Amino acid sequence: MQQPFIVFGSPQIEPAEIDEVVASLHSGWLGTGPKVARFENEFATYKGVAHTAAVNSCTAALHLSLLAADLHPGDEVITTPLTFCATVNAILHAGATPVLADVDPATMNIDPARVEAKITARTRALLPVHFAGRPCEMEALMAVAERHGLKVIEDCAHAIETEYHGRKAGTFGDFGCFSFYVTKNVVTGEGGMVVARREEDIARIKVLALHGMSKDAWRRFSDAGFKHYQVVELGFKYNMMDLQTAIGIHQLARVESNWVKRQAVWRRYHAAFEALPIRLPADPVPDTRHAYHLYSILIDEAKTGIGRDAFLDAMTARNIGVGVHYLSIPEHPFYQRTFGWRPEDYPNALRIGRQTVSLPISAKLSDDEVGRVIEAVLNILGTAER
Ligand SMILES: Cc1ncc(COP(=O)(O)O)c(C=O)c1O
Repeated sequence: MQQPFIVFGSPQIEPAEIDEVVASLHSGWLGTGPKVARFENEFATYKGVAHTAAVNSCTAALHLSLLAADLHPGDEVITTPLTFCATVNAILHAGATPVLADVDPATMNIDPARVEAKITARTRALLPVHFAGRPCEMEALMAVAERHGLKVIEDCAHAIETEYHGRKAGTFGDFGCFSFYVTKNVVTGEGGMVVARREEDIARIKVLALHGMSKDAWRRFSDAGFKHYQVVELGFKYNMMDLQTAIGIHQLARVESNWVKRQAVWRRYHAAFEALPIRLPADPVPDTRHAYHLYSILIDEAKTGIGRDAFLDAMTARNIGVGVHYLSIPEHPFYQRTFGWRPEDYPNALRIGRQTVSLPISAKLSDDEVGRVIEAVLNILGTAER
């Protein structure tokens, strides 16, 4: 009999989240209310920061951070070609121009030397992505930013638990942006958070996230009586809901125990695949903390006898969900058309994007399911023609 399908990135939802959502429904407070404020405070405590703003996605968090960074048309923002399209799209929606700097082939993170080479008179900001939860070389990147007077917006969509030299990801730059999308390490369905160094940036982001309405507009329906609001600038509808944070509060309470579970899965994969002719993710280096968000292997057909896409199909045929993180940004027709970007100009991201396969690493996986993933990988690569 066929085994059940292992959904890639399936979230671990416990009775605590379900009960809290039901309680929110009974309370009548579904939208932005006291649970959002509580989630912001608890996230701030977890990250050891003072200023947070919950929004409805990391895309929104990036967009608002870039707006708060006060970019102007023609300003350039340097980012990585190995990321989700949201990173680059947020730069465009903020009215700035994205510039790509290739990744380091081993760490898969943006290469600080290549960043330096892309600086021009128009460069205003850096947008590094802590890929898979591995911290970027923040000392080198912050040194480049300081030398050239650049804002830094960290894309921490994979990196809630990530640390670099004792400091938490998202606290190096002016802004840190987090995702609580269903496959992420902390889940709210859709959801995001901005962490900012300056209180006035978070105040502006909160206004921008709710139509540009004056501070604390969400309180206008509270039991303290109706409060008038004023639209003080043109904003967006990016606010998070109590219903979402009802899930997030309990997810955040388990962030560390789930990290331990994913670390154990990572280590099992590492031990099982050591002898295979594939590239495994680079080990975390000392004095850093990897968030173990993705476990991505590289399938080089010349070595394995099977192409990446055939490998994806073979895993799916065994009822195991897999992911691709990511086809490099310049492979997509929109960016080619708009910027004339060519994939071969970013060879490391190009090769990774064409060879990469992410295996399931959710905290929800049972030992047996991890065993099934291992068996499938060994089976597919063991029987592949060389
Ligand atoms: C690196 C990266 N940045 C940004 C995002 C956007 O996150 P969200 O879906 O919360 O908007 C994602 C989501 O997958 C991501 O992986």
